[in-house]
Amino acid sequence: MARRRLVYEGKAKILYEGPEPGTLVQYFKDDATAGNGEKHAVIEGKGVLNNRISEHIMSALNGIGVQTHFIRRINMREQLIRAVEMIPIEIVVRNVAAGSLSKRLGIEEGEPLPRPIIEFYLKDDKLGDPMVTEEHILAFNWATQQDVDDMISLALRVNDFLSGLFMGVGIKLVDFKIECGRIWEGDYQRVIVADEISPDSCRLWDARSGQKLDKDVFRRDLGNVTDAYAEVARRLGIMPEA
Ligand code: C5P
Repeated sequence: MARRRLVYEGKAKILYEGPEPGTLVQYFKDDATAGNGEKHAVIEGKGVLNNRISEHIMSALNGIGVQTHFIRRINMREQLIRAVEMIPIEIVVRNVAAGSLSKRLGIEEGEPLPRPIIEFYLKDDKLGDPMVTEEHILAFNWATQQDVDDMISLALRVNDFLSGLFMGVGIKLVDFKIECGRIWEGDYQRVIVADEISPDSCRLWDARSGQKLDKDVFRRDLGNVTDAYAEVARRLGIMPEA
């Protein structure tokens, strides 16, 4: 049997060539990194949980007409996705002050923001993913004005939908990051949600206690990471097979 072709390996995921043209297989590793790779650990079961949680969220988004790259889950660690042309920008949406925003602007973590705030970061490991503005994105041609408008509109729709989804299970969506890619539909280009949406890329706090159920548990050594992610899966009604 021929070994399938590796297309890309990142810190937490691997992409393989898919079974049909225009598809890829996204494999979720157990690796966790923080501080741009300075801190690294293998957290048993994290990949399985993120595969399931991302599947749940992306399918729900597909269901409400927010197009994502997700096609279907293949097994515990893999999902079939559409191949897209990735836009090298991370879009962060914030509802509550936390993390780098709190640090940069001196706003206490947990302070609700007056409105959702969108930020852009350039995907560049060597530079540590610096924050950039729309001006930079357009001037350096990382994306077009249409791409930027589409990314903002997708990010806000994802925020509205996910805030409600999580609030329904007693979790506050503090902030999250998405990545987008372009697909072609005949002569038209469309921007869709790609990568993953999971506790690795969101800040999720228990609505009552404020307990952190996301990657900050790893970043800040706050306890058992798998337990926190499993709690998110449990509340979403997804119990991964053992
Ligand atoms: O660190 P910061 O406060 O800027 O992170 C904002 C949000 O974006 C958090 O939910 C974090 O998990 C996510 N993020 C990410 N990948 C990065 C940077 C941030 O998923 N490279």
